Amino acid sequence: MIIAIDGPAGAGKSTVAKILAEKIGCTYINTGAMYRAVAYKLLQIGGKFTEEDLKNILENISISLDKDKVLLDGEDISDKIKDEKVSKMASKIATIKIVREKLVEKQRQMAKEKECVVMEGRDIGTVVFPNADIKIFLTATAEERAKRRYEELKAKGFNIPYEHLLEKIKERDKIDSTRKIAPLKPTKEHIVIDTTDKSIEEVIEEITDIIKKVN
Ligand code: C5P
Repeated sequence: MIIAIDGPAGAGKSTVAKILAEKIGCTYINTGAMYRAVAYKLLQIGGKFTEEDLKNILENISISLDKDKVLLDGEDISDKIKDEKVSKMASKIATIKIVREKLVEKQRQMAKEKECVVMEGRDIGTVVFPNADIKIFLTATAEERAKRRYEELKAKGFNIPYEHLLEKIKERDKIDSTRKIAPLKPTKEHIVIDTTDKSIEEVIEEITDIIKKVN
């Protein structure tokens, strides 16, 4: 069974997908972490690269996911890839065809080995698994998503202005939804859940009910 969870940055996809996967005994795959891992690697070489460099990196890169742990060539980069610079670079390189082709191939491969998968990203129900058993599109207003990000960072001791975070969220929304390849958008089969005024528990319950109805 494949459960696709798509949606914009900060809609709660990771939190919801992780808890849901645990609850129903499925493997959780965070595809955003894979784009972030490639972005991180490119930033390590200075952020400038030719198409040849990119091809080489994509050929030789090893990305493995273990729940919410991300390993790049064996190094645990789980925290390092949450950085704002990495987010921006990830959105940028996610518009490049060879990057998407390589990562989509890897995502399909990862799911092949599993009985049940909860995969979250931007193009899971449209490109990676157009025949997914369940397609959910999680969204929330940009203001609510920026507020959540603000509170999350504040709890970790970082005081980043809300306005700045809102601007970054809107910037990423624009890149992700207007790109030529695999833009972020729900299909007719996606069940759209607006999480603006909902708790994580409510959203998980709603998805669990949807899964029960389908099975
Ligand atoms: O989900 P997350 O915010 O970690 O993803 C980082 C970036 O990777 C997104 O802004 C998006 O540009 C890209 N991405 C994508 N397709 C996916 C997952 C992420 O283009 N399936």
